[in-house]
Amino acid sequence: MSFLVLNAIIVPLGLLEFAAVAEAVNLASMCWRDSYDAQRCCKGEDPTCWDAIFTQKVCCPSDGESALTLAGRGNPSCWQDGYTYTECCVEEPKLGCWDTEFGPEKCCMDVDLHERSLDVTKEEMIEAYVRSTASASDGPLGCEDKPLGFWRMVKVSSAAFNTSRQYGLPGERPAKEDMAIIVRHVRSWIQNRELWEASKLACPLGALNAIDLSVAYIDRELGEEEASKAYRLHQSLRSELIAEGSWPPIGDWPLLSEGLEYVPRMLGLSAKHSCHNSAIRIYVYKVAKLLHMQRPVLTCSQKMSQCTASVHIHRWLESGSCVADDPREADLFYLPAYEACYNETACGFGISDSHDTERCFPNDFSPAEDLPHWAGRSSEHVFVFGCNLLPLRDNLMIEARQSIMVTVESFQAENSAGPNMLAWLSHWKDVVIPGYIPAWRITAMLAFNRPMIQRSILVAFHGHSSSSTNVGHMYKRSPLARVRDRVIEYFWNQSDASVGPPVRDYFRRMGMSRFCLIPAGLTAWTIHLYESFFFGCVPVILSDELTVPFQSEIDWRSLSIQVPTTMDMMELHVKLQSFSLGRLKTMYRKIADARCWFDYSQGWGDEGDKPGCSPYQGLLTALEHRVAQGRSRLYSLAPGWEPPPRT
Ligand SMILES: *[C@@H]1O[C@H](CO)[C@@H](O)[C@H](O)[C@H]1NC(C)=O
Ligand SMILES: *[C@@H]1O[C@H](CO)[C@@H](O)[C@H](O)[C@H]1NC(C)=O
Ligand SMILES: *[C@@H]1O[C@H](CO)[C@@H](O)[C@H](O)[C@H]1NC(C)=O
Repeated sequence: MSFLVLNAIIVPLGLLEFAAVAEAVNLASMCWRDSYDAQRCCKGEDPTCWDAIFTQKVCCPSDGESALTLAGRGNPSCWQDGYTYTECCVEEPKLGCWDTEFGPEKCCMDVDLHERSLDVTKEEMIEAYVRSTASASDGPLGCEDKPLGFWRMVKVSSAAFNTSRQYGLPGERPAKEDMAIIVRHVRSWIQNRELWEASKLACPLGALNAIDLSVAYIDRELGEEEASKAYRLHQSLRSELIAEGSWPPIGDWPLLSEGLEYVPRMLGLSAKHSCHNSAIRIYVYKVAKLLHMQRPVLTCSQKMSQCTASVHIHRWLESGSCVADDPREADLFYLPAYEACYNETACGFGISDSHDTERCFPNDFSPAEDLPHWAGRSSEHVFVFGCNLLPLRDNLMIEARQSIMVTVESFQAENSAGPNMLAWLSHWKDVVIPGYIPAWRITAMLAFNRPMIQRSILVAFHGHSSSSTNVGHMYKRSPLARVRDRVIEYFWNQSDASVGPPVRDYFRRMGMSRFCLIPAGLTAWTIHLYESFFFGCVPVILSDELTVPFQSEIDWRSLSIQVPTTMDMMELHVKLQSFSLGRLKTMYRKIADARCWFDYSQGWGDEGDKPGCSPYQGLLTALEHRVAQGRSRLYSLAPGWEPPPRT
């Protein structure tokens, strides 16, 4: 066994997402410290000047270009998300250029890079990042760095991952070369017990974090089996530390596993639960033809929010007692297949001769032929669809027209069929569920959630619309999304609103706003609705075709507002202004109480042993309804609701 000796200077790499954030702030003004200045670093070739963030490119303007021309005209901190000086600082600015925070006064004046004021959150974020990676690379390691450089590299990578996640970013994985080294170590631990014993003794927290950092990669490249073997080492070491009384450990190693609670769950290594005591029994199919739609599970479980609920629901069921091994005992039959794995498993390429790349189900899959319990019981079959809803005239949809479709989207646009929208959800047989938001993102959102009285913005919306740079053409085609243009057109220059394209300090603004507008987008559904529960702003739904989930569990009327998309925006503005603080505070409390219904990290282990509050509980109750009362009404909330005037 040989170990790679790493360079003594270890730079945090793999920071692409973070680099994007860094770009938006005045990084150049933070380049110089102590005896390090432009004189010393830009002219000479002193490698100690640079690390992964502060590179020559960032700190030294190239010949002939001043820092100002490099960054462009106006205030560079304004030019994000595709908006530019030439589009905005003109007589007729592009729609969406300005909002309460960004206006011509602030953005169109040329500013000296060094005087530019930084957004607090961004500055804080970069500083936290620099601080934590710097202390991980220079501070005491907490164990002997043997093999030389390895534990140090793991620690720096862990700090980078941990800080970016704390600010709601996906979390940076180690760079390719570092990942290869980590994976090699972890695999050697799986294969050689002595090596594992020695490593976990030498640096227990390093060993835990090395597994946390690499397990998704191992799952994707080497398979779920190997990932489970790695994670079992993690679990046994963690329980040993707990048994010894050394948990939570002292020292400054970030504990990545605290933000990766889904890993053991997705791998089937978490404690069993009793499905919130549900009496329902569900038979779960294992169909060889569809196995490509179930892997790589860790990657699929963290993809776009509309897609991933299917992964969590399947793995949650499998770790619960409501699964019927004997089909004769089953009330329902569930076919696991994750559209979330689209593009991970090359759906539509090679698997079928179809050129329809949006279809993950192979063309030769037919419920009647491939599902042994289908005949006469198709209405007891359950499919979970997040993204990539099949068109209603797809063969599978026609065959399964009596089956229960569990979905986050109540409406969809027909593929390439222009502006015609279809009600996809059948209110009499289907079930609506919320989209998935990862627990670490929820934690980050809650950190920005302020009490109602401290909220200085009346109403906020930041999202894509027909004026967005790269995706605008899609919004132009969607008739549902027109309401977004109307929202932006009216609210952009209102002094109590923060409305416009996506912004980098999105979390901060949502957490400071009393109301969050939830306009329809490409489809009726949008994740903004569920996010508002974690930001603590009152959702104002502007989407006529949206069906909200869990109507018997959540009193939507008491905590949200639904108005027709045709409503006059000024009228809406006046209406929102008229809400008293007392009424808002009551809604805020109810929003906080309802949060658990949208948190897919609830309901696992012990929590799943009692009736409780989780999206799984909501789903099971709805399914029980479908089983017991046949085609009963679950969705009866009439549009145009708002809380009672008096509180
Ligand atoms: C980051 O590290 C801290 C301290 O160990 C831990 O409490 C937290 O859960 C970690 N967060 C993430 C997202 O990994
Ligand atoms: C799918 O993967 C290919 C190749 O990795 C990439 O070019 C493409 O943009 C991806 N498509 C989607 C929808 O993610
Ligand atoms: C906002 O801009 C519109 C034109 O786009 C103008 O008619 C209106 O008076 C402005 N309102 C405020 C409050 O500045």
